[in-house]
Amino acid sequence: MSVLKGKRVLLGVSGGIAAYKAVELLRLLTKEDAVVDVIMTPTATHFVGPETFRALSGRPVLIDLFDRAGGEGGSTVVIPHLEPAEAADLAIVAPATANTLAKMALGIADNALVTTLLSVTAPVLAAPAMDSDMWLHPATQANVELLRQRGVHFVGPGTGQLARRNVGPGRMAEPEEIVAKARRILQGRSQSQLLAGRRIVVTAGGTREPLDPVRFISNRSSGKMGFALAQAALDLGAEVDLIAAPTALAPPRGCRCVEVETALQMRREVLERLDASDAVIMAAAVADWRAEEVPEHKVKKGDADRWTITLVKNPDIAAEVGARKKSGQVLVAFAAETERLREHATEKLKKKRADLVVANDVSRTEIGFGADENQVTLFYADGRIEELPQMRKEELALELMQRVGRLLAQGGGA
Ligand code: PMT
Repeated sequence: MSVLKGKRVLLGVSGGIAAYKAVELLRLLTKEDAVVDVIMTPTATHFVGPETFRALSGRPVLIDLFDRAGGEGGSTVVIPHLEPAEAADLAIVAPATANTLAKMALGIADNALVTTLLSVTAPVLAAPAMDSDMWLHPATQANVELLRQRGVHFVGPGTGQLARRNVGPGRMAEPEEIVAKARRILQGRSQSQLLAGRRIVVTAGGTREPLDPVRFISNRSSGKMGFALAQAALDLGAEVDLIAAPTALAPPRGCRCVEVETALQMRREVLERLDASDAVIMAAAVADWRAEEVPEHKVKKGDADRWTITLVKNPDIAAEVGARKKSGQVLVAFAAETERLREHATEKLKKKRADLVVANDVSRTEIGFGADENQVTLFYADGRIEELPQMRKEELALELMQRVGRLLAQGGGA
């Protein structure tokens, strides 16, 4: 049975050539027995007539903010956008034009669609569709980023044939893809209590190991993967301690965030919380080495043409957690590899006594360090191997935390 069955879906159609694809989207949603309320922007009606949506959904289509009870000439003014907003289990905006995304980001309420979206508390999924230049414009990108930070889900846009240009980014995701994403969102929501009562420690970012008071050794970790994991754990109902090495990101609202710099500081914070936690997720890129001696003052170059630094090994935090964890606790380690992924990941699984190793190929620039997306292979302690497709780190984080939830429900690790 589809997770969409019986769900109230608010389908917002804004004014772009891709509006015709919203018809097929509506058809697919109703085929899965979703109850769909369509709201069109006035511009959208230039591309597709409301009658098409009315016939396919079997429900009135909202275009105006105010309707008169009893039809034209009726006396009572009702505000028809509030009921679908309150009843919605999910809102989908497809196509989401640059204009509608900008209004959503700013909270502008000058048509029935954007006004309704301001009252929606259910998850919102946007499928952008526009010309490549509009999509790539810093204003659109900033609006999308802001909406993402507020929890709006996105699907697409893809690269393909566009109205004005031959090819480029901006093409709306296909209706099947939008429905698949809608299913995943609703599935995630139905598991919103999967980690209720659980306490999860997540590490994120790249540690900084000082060389003197102004210089340090670090790595390219942006913290995106770890922060997304903390958010996903919160979304699934967990209490989250986020131990964060320096990043440019704001910690997810609702988690306890401790900022650290070095591997030794991170180790202390993680181990301090170990006994009280159900799972430790080590997404941080912890420096393997630190300078043996850190001078009190800035090292002056003077006449020297070389500076020799002796590095000593940092403790392996994940391995310590693995050695100390009790039955029922789950340890997830990451493996950042540039070659022989499987071999190194299985080695790490054993060495760290992890229950799950999440291996990513960090030689690929479109995933891993700093990227918005990641593609990982999962190595479980029981020998299972699972390859996940490339996806945004937020989505991957949810997939991973759902697996952590299942490992905990099975009694945790060994
Ligand atoms: O932060 P982003 O820009 O989003 O990038 C995400 C990421 C690439 C950093 C992330 O996906 C990732 O791979 N994190 C682990 C990076 C890493 O340090 O991998 P490693 O293979 O060197 O370490 C293996 C595991 O041991 C990791 O879980 C690491 O946290 C842990 N470790 C490593 C060294 C050490 N001294 N102590 C540790 O606990």
